Amino acid sequence: MIVVVIYTRPPYIRAPEEDFILKEVDVDAIVVPVFQDEDETPIIEGAVSDIDDETGGRLREAVELDGFSASVGETLTVFWKWTRIVYVGVGPKNSDNILDNVRNGIAKAVKPLVEKAKTIGLVADDMPDDAKLEAVIAAGLAAYRLEHFKSEKKAKLRTIIVKGVDYKLANTIVEGVYLARDIANAPPNDLYPAKLAETLKNVFSELRSVTIEVFDYDRLVREGFGGIVSVGKGSTHKPRLIVLRYKNSDGDKIALVGKTVVFDTGGINLKKGDGLFSMRSDKAGGAAVIGALYILAKLGVKANVTVLIPAVINAIDGGSYLPSDVIKMWDGTTVEIGNTDAEGRLILADAIAYAAKELKAKIVIDAATLTGAIVVALGPVYAGLFTRSDRLAAVIEEASQATGEKLWRMPMPDEYKAYLRRKSPLADIGNVPNVRAAGAIYGALFLEVFAHDSEWAHLDIAGPGIGGEPDDVAPAYWPGSLAPGYGARLLAETVRKLASR
Ligand code: BES
Ligand code: ZN
Ligand code: ZN
Repeated sequence: MIVVVIYTRPPYIRAPEEDFILKEVDVDAIVVPVFQDEDETPIIEGAVSDIDDETGGRLREAVELDGFSASVGETLTVFWKWTRIVYVGVGPKNSDNILDNVRNGIAKAVKPLVEKAKTIGLVADDMPDDAKLEAVIAAGLAAYRLEHFKSEKKAKLRTIIVKGVDYKLANTIVEGVYLARDIANAPPNDLYPAKLAETLKNVFSELRSVTIEVFDYDRLVREGFGGIVSVGKGSTHKPRLIVLRYKNSDGDKIALVGKTVVFDTGGINLKKGDGLFSMRSDKAGGAAVIGALYILAKLGVKANVTVLIPAVINAIDGGSYLPSDVIKMWDGTTVEIGNTDAEGRLILADAIAYAAKELKAKIVIDAATLTGAIVVALGPVYAGLFTRSDRLAAVIEEASQATGEKLWRMPMPDEYKAYLRRKSPLADIGNVPNVRAAGAIYGALFLEVFAHDSEWAHLDIAGPGIGGEPDDVAPAYWPGSLAPGYGARLLAETVRKLASR
């Protein structure tokens, strides 16, 4: 097992060598999910019952005396001989939300153990297979701590032991999401565009099926990537376009494009105090598509995928692009800059057009922390999905159901296209509308111009890409104030579904 990491190595998920309940094996905590009956009482049968019998009946006691009801995330810790047993409620056994309940329950049990336990055993014997897989993935994801920059490292959890899951699948998904999280949360001075390119060479050197091409600044200028060059030229760390290719089938080429603004100051339209907060995660779209490719390539999924990462710093400087500049995009479209803070659509437009016209991708999906407007509309957990293709929407929505990464399809009204042209007297279109209304829709309509003949979908992940919601608003397996790596699983699953048809 080789795992190339940027900052954070995930705990390793493996099978038990012997029964860790009855034998004194080196397990610091045993997490036991408990389902609920229709009448909201815990179901104590099978492995749960055996463990309770073996360890003095403390669970039944807690039900009797303390009203332990196995609601989602409710825990009971029993110290027993060489270890501790953490019973955790995962809600009703026959729930439409069973996967989310299991993810949240397990994550709530695991989080407090991260600094205490080196090895955790998970007893998921009585779960359906899909819930079992989600349980162990949630355990892995809940353990994420970005301690690379801390002098004192507190996280101890290294191993998760569980019976009877697809270990390669579980480990790969957790690794892919950790990779996305590390990238999304990286400070801009540590992961500027050129450094990201070097880092990806390193990460993907492990996966020989992936090739990497890096367009440096001179090449971007020479080949007319006006969007990427204009946004990126104001920083001493110049932009890159990173292209990762994975071809393991002769099927239609699918392009994944990720907004990778390493830091978004807003440019000359400088963001104010609060707005700057968390703009290091304005590369969460790029992080998502990179994580997705890692998962696909490591699993050897039969697919033909190209990932495009336009990586820039939107900085403020004498050399920055200006509001009222007219720039020429890679595909020849001219754009009048109404606001330098609407930079994501400019770098994406070049990459999307390049994917559609030059690389001849049949399907193009982009992920981007594109607009504050989508956060106002959908909040911190849901992404906005924009596409004219009902077929593509259906696949992405199914993938979202499976992975628990929430989204909501948004409209793309033809009438609103008038906004695109109304804004610019000088150029073909403007990069911002002349109204405050429908900001996220405008962003999508702008991008659509550059999708040309491809079947295209856009995920505005400004909410879940940044994350940082405490407690029960966000899923419990999200890493507190940090970006959760939203989209890595979702896009891997989407591509898997598209490629297997
Ligand atoms: N990166 C921001 C969008 C964003 C805001 C992401 C909050 C996550 C949280 C994007 O580049 C931006 O600044 N968009 C502007 C567009 C506007 C100028 C048309 C916005 O949303 O205000
Ligand atoms: Zn911006
Ligand atoms: Zn931005």
